[in-house]
Amino acid sequence: MIDASKYEKLVEGRLDYKTDPSLLDIAQETRNERLLFERSIEIAKNVFPHNQPITVLDLCSGSGLFTKHILNSLNVLKAVCVDNDRKFVVKSKQNLSFYNADITYFCQDATYFKAPEKFDLILLGSAYHHIEDRLKVKFLKNAKSNLKEDGFILVNENFLPEYKEGNIESYKESVYIFYNELFIWLKSNNTPDSVINILRQTAWFGFQREYELKVSYELFMKSIKDSKLKMVSEERVWPLVKNNKLSFGSYILLLKKD
Ligand SMILES: C[S@@+](CC[C@H](N)C(=O)[O-])C[C@H]1O[C@@H](n2cnc3c(N)ncnc32)[C@H](O)[C@@H]1O
Repeated sequence: MIDASKYEKLVEGRLDYKTDPSLLDIAQETRNERLLFERSIEIAKNVFPHNQPITVLDLCSGSGLFTKHILNSLNVLKAVCVDNDRKFVVKSKQNLSFYNADITYFCQDATYFKAPEKFDLILLGSAYHHIEDRLKVKFLKNAKSNLKEDGFILVNENFLPEYKEGNIESYKESVYIFYNELFIWLKSNNTPDSVINILRQTAWFGFQREYELKVSYELFMKSIKDSKLKMVSEERVWPLVKNNKLSFGSYILLLKKD
């Protein structure tokens, strides 16, 4: 029998970032998130070498951090940011206001967003886990529909340890293992409690299966197949274990049309 009080303990002291986009910026600066951004930029530079001009669509753009990293490192002709929360759209405009690039912002649902043009690169940074389960495949298919034939989708995502689908106990235990391991690792990397407390809210949402709708790596792979997308490469930046038996953690996946 699982002692459910450990779930309560894990989320004690949580700070709500949903109502305050500046807290999200802090949460996106944790070590695993920074590694996700750093490595995904390297991967993007490999597929778009020689300062090749590209167009970028950022779905669930939040405060614009993923686009910001891309703008810093690649030759972006045009970027389009889509988020369905006005507060985040405002924040992304502030964060990206120092760039001369052609950037357009839409406050719309990324599951249905259609641009008049197709893009070289589509960013899904911590996006998939915000989409309702019943819409996850639709979301990926819609991203694909906005992609050029030879374009790439770059996914930064956190996956839970495998759990029994539809079994709430098994799911909650998986959320617990994910965050417990993450907090231990972040603490060992001197992450301040104030930052971990923002992630405690993320864990709380996860336990409620509200707003934070993470899935296991296995379930994500199934959605990739159902969306007729193809995996080009994958890399995990946390946990940093050589032996790849664990299939949870922070991943960068590069996808293209099948
Ligand atoms: C964790 S943030 C990720 C931000 C950014 N992509 C990054 O990598 O830093 C997730 C964002 O997704 C947005 N979001 C959630 N569901 C959405 C949807 N259906 N359509 C558009 N945006 C959505 C939220 O408002 C939030 O700003």
